[in-house]
Amino acid sequence: MMGALWIAACGLLLLSSSSGVEGIGVNYGMIANNLPSPDKVIALCRARNITDVRLFHPDTAVLAALRGSGLGVVLGTLNEDLARLASDASFAASWVQSYVQPFAGAVRFLYVTAGNEVIPGDLAALVLPAMRNLESALRGAGLGGVAVTTAVSTAVLGSSYPPSQGAFSEEALPTVGPIASFLASRSAPLLVNVYPYFAYAADPSSVPLDYALLQPASAATVTDGGVEYTNMFDAIVDAMHAALGRVAASGAVDVVVSETGWPSGGGGAGASVGNAAAYVNNVVRRVGSGRGTPRRPGKAVEAFVFAMFNENQKPEGVERHFGLFEPDMTEVYHVDFTAAGPSA
Ligand SMILES: *[C@@H]1O[C@H](CO)[C@@H](O)[C@H](O)[C@H]1NC(C)=O
Repeated sequence: MMGALWIAACGLLLLSSSSGVEGIGVNYGMIANNLPSPDKVIALCRARNITDVRLFHPDTAVLAALRGSGLGVVLGTLNEDLARLASDASFAASWVQSYVQPFAGAVRFLYVTAGNEVIPGDLAALVLPAMRNLESALRGAGLGGVAVTTAVSTAVLGSSYPPSQGAFSEEALPTVGPIASFLASRSAPLLVNVYPYFAYAADPSSVPLDYALLQPASAATVTDGGVEYTNMFDAIVDAMHAALGRVAASGAVDVVVSETGWPSGGGGAGASVGNAAAYVNNVVRRVGSGRGTPRRPGKAVEAFVFAMFNENQKPEGVERHFGLFEPDMTEVYHVDFTAAGPSA
C-alpha cells in the first residue's frame, strides 16, 4: 500500500516537472522614490537567475524593459481600477490594448491578476466581474492563452489549522467561492500571499521560529491526518488547498504563492538580516526541490519572493524592510536563486 502510494506520488511529480516548472519569482514593488531604472532592475533579475517577476500595476516602462528578457510576468491591475474593469468592458479592452497587447510578442505573460488582497472587503464583489471582462478582452485581442486570476491574502480563511480544516470565512465565501469555480473551469491557479512572518510576529512565544523560517532541522512539526508538516509555509498552502477543495473539486484549483518574504529590520519580532536570509534561501530551495505539499505532493510549489527592493515610501517599520536589494542594487543579504533551478 505504501509502495503503491509512493509510486503514484512519483508519477505525479514527473508529470508536473515535464509540464514546465517555473523557477523563482520576485515581486517588483515600486513604493519608493529612489529605485533604479527598470532596465537596470530587469538586468539585475536576469544576472541573479530570478526567472519571473510580478508587477502590482501596469507600467509601460517596466513592460518595455521586460521585452526579450525571457522573464515570466504576472501583471496586476491597480485595486483602484477594479470598479471600472468590472463595470465597463471597453475599459478592460483598452487596458489590455495598452498594457498587454503591445508587449505580448516579446514578454512572456504568465497571468493577469485583477486586484490584490481585496477579499474580503468593499471591493471584493468587483473581482470576478473584472476577471470576466479582462478575460474577454484578452480573448478579443487573441491573447486567450494568458490566464486571468486574482491574488488573495490568508484573510480569506476562516479556519486554517490544522491544514486539513482549512476553510474560507463566511465573509469571504460569497466572492471567493464563485472565483474558485471560474478558476477551476479554466485550470487557472489562485494566487495567494503567504507570510509565516506575520503569524510568528503576532505570537513569537508560541510559534516556533524554526517552523516559521522553514529551517530544515526544525524540531517542530504538525501532524494532521496521515501527514506531517515541518514548516508553516506548507501548512498555509495546504490550508488554502483544503479551503479550495470545499468549494471546487479537490485539486481543481492550484495555488501559486504570489508573495512570501521576511523583513530584515524595522523593529518587529524576528525581523533581522539573518532570519530574512534564512527564510528566503529556504523558500528558494523549497521551490527548487520540485516537491509539492503534503496534500498535493504532485504539484510543485511556485513562489514569488516579496520583494525586490526595500521601499522607502512604505509605512514605517518592517514594511520598509522586505527587500532583497537596497535601491543602489547592493544585496541586503545573499540569496542563491540558482537553487530554484531544475539542475539544483
Ligand atoms: C545564472 O545566470 C547567469 C547569467 O545570466 C548564467 O550565466 C548562469 O548560467 C545561470 N545559472 C544557472 C544555474 O541557471
